[in-house]
Amino acid sequence: MNRVLEDILRTGYTKTVDGESIKINSNISREEGGFLQEIINELKPTRTLEIGLAYGVSALFICDALAKIPSARHVIIDPCQGSQDLWKGVGLRNLTVAGFQDMIEFYEQPSHIALPRLISEGREIDFAFIDGAHAFDYALVDFFCVDYLLRTNGVVVFDDTGMPAIQRLCRFIITNRAYTVLRYFPYNNEASSKGYSKRRLFKKASQLSPVAKRVFKYEYAKPEVDLSLGLPGSQCIAFRKNAADTRAWNFYHDF
Ligand SMILES: C[S@@+](CC[C@H](N)C(=O)[O-])C[C@H]1O[C@@H](n2cnc3c(N)ncnc32)[C@H](O)[C@@H]1O
Repeated sequence: MNRVLEDILRTGYTKTVDGESIKINSNISREEGGFLQEIINELKPTRTLEIGLAYGVSALFICDALAKIPSARHVIIDPCQGSQDLWKGVGLRNLTVAGFQDMIEFYEQPSHIALPRLISEGREIDFAFIDGAHAFDYALVDFFCVDYLLRTNGVVVFDDTGMPAIQRLCRFIITNRAYTVLRYFPYNNEASSKGYSKRRLFKKASQLSPVAKRVFKYEYAKPEVDLSLGLPGSQCIAFRKNAADTRAWNFYHDF
């Protein structure tokens, strides 16, 4: 593993451009980073994209895995990287110190501005990690645009899939778009967490009659869909794009 990334994970701290030590936050965990790297090792993407840089932890994991792939390039989008109240340019600095500066292309813009430009340039990507603004509409626009860039058989990964807005978006993807779940993280949390009893309830709910299902709260009325997403419990979901979008103009499936 890259030395810069290893140091950040071991200490929980990183350095600003001025040498000030700051505690990291908002980053993915070592295990989630391993999840991303495993997918990259299998997929061997040469064009990747990430929304949400922060202190650069996920980008370091992605670039660390991409370093083994000849001519791989990574696009990163984050409007707040240079903000002195937030990330203070630390993510970009970490990527440079780690030696990945020639591999990355950075846009300091909101993703809803940067992504349409990449689409209009005819760009294609093989892999995307979406971890930017987590409000439903922003995350949906991220997915919508990433889908235009993503080639068939490419993979898009969402972080924070336990959050209601992202969970709902994942339901939309699996029910309305030509995507399937490649895998989710954690893979197997059933035995250890309260997710286990909720999952049992889900399984039971899926066997109920449609009328009985309706009296359940919404979250419990979609057990088949949520089980396929590893919900409740999963924090990260990877979807594979199976085909280009061929839906009728008025297609809609409840999600
Ligand atoms: C949870 S943090 C990302 C953490 C990072 N992926 C990691 O693991 O180290 C969310 C990031 O999204 C960025 N962000 C917020 N609004 C955004 C937007 N509209 N477009 C792109 N990025 C955005 C924030 O500046 C922040 O860096």
